Amino acid sequence: MKILVTGGTGYIGSHTVVELQNRGHEVIIIDNLSNSYSTVVDQIEKITGKRPVFEVFDLTDKAKTAAFFQQNSDLDGIIHFAAYKAVGESVEKPLKYYRNNLESLLNILDGMQEYKIPSLVFSSSCTVYGEPDELPVSEAAPIKPATSPYGNTKQISEEIIRDTAANSSFNAILLRYFNPIGAHESALIGELPIGVPNNLIPYITQTAAGIREQLSVFGDDYDTPDGTAIRDYIHVTDLAKAHIAALERMAHKKSKEKVEAFNVGTGNGYSVLEVIRAFEKSTGEKLNYKIAPRRAGDVEKVWSETTLANNELGWKAEKNIEEMMASAWKWQLALEKK
Ligand code: WQD
Repeated sequence: MKILVTGGTGYIGSHTVVELQNRGHEVIIIDNLSNSYSTVVDQIEKITGKRPVFEVFDLTDKAKTAAFFQQNSDLDGIIHFAAYKAVGESVEKPLKYYRNNLESLLNILDGMQEYKIPSLVFSSSCTVYGEPDELPVSEAAPIKPATSPYGNTKQISEEIIRDTAANSSFNAILLRYFNPIGAHESALIGELPIGVPNNLIPYITQTAAGIREQLSVFGDDYDTPDGTAIRDYIHVTDLAKAHIAALERMAHKKSKEKVEAFNVGTGNGYSVLEVIRAFEKSTGEKLNYKIAPRRAGDVEKVWSETTLANNELGWKAEKNIEEMMASAWKWQLALEKK
């Protein structure tokens, strides 16, 4: 199939391009390089031996996006990653997030309607569930009021897709990610946080690499076994493979509704201290950390119910927490060498 991957030089996008090419699909990347580097295309080519077509422009530019679709009206599907995703920044600059994340989606949907592109896979997030009432959280759980403008753009995007698909010819699958971590086994692509990392895993690997002095564990007074917050960490390659499964479900007309949502997680929850132990065990590195106050806006505990994705997508996460930690460390060491 000929697939457009927006945000394809980003962390999850690049890993998904690799998996698409590994399955023989033809890939076009659109990215504005606002939060990634064009060298990622070279690394993808090194991994798969095939260079994806790469177009650099901003999807909020209506004219440029329409012109792209006019040139590529034969697309079999679109995986839409392109969006800003820093929770904290979205609180400081809500308009930047609403304009970018929603306008780019609207321009993509215009193109899909105009040229009857049949399938859309949308990058959504477990943040739509907020602090779930029940754990593990299933797709039937209520959508809670968003706790950040970033999370709200994901909720609003899901609604826009549902309303548009209702009277269009395309099908859509919303993939609700839990916490993507780790890197491709080649260590040629991975997470490239710019500046001080917000997320736990890059902060851990940068601390172990001596780039950061000490990891702060944000709170050990939560209602969890060891007091630290729990998340469902999933290897980025397992996450990438879920996108292929979603595309193939729609290509083979197996969708049961016009728009379907699936949780993409492992179904296992790990606390911050358990992640640190797993990192130390799998790498032999001793991590320097201290307990610090809670971080505002953090959810206490969330992990996924994945039977719907397992049964309907025929997809299941394979890598365990030690393998995820080892791949994150291997990537950090590769970055040091660059
Ligand atoms: C994980 C846990 C922190 C850093 C965010 C977004 C979510 C998705 C993934 C986009 C939490 C703790 C972290 C640190 C720590 N992004 N932590 N010290 O917040 O679960 O999810 O990233 O889709 O939408 O909200 O991920 O990695 O920031 O935090 O103790 O230096 O690690 O408190 O419990 P989070 P995270």
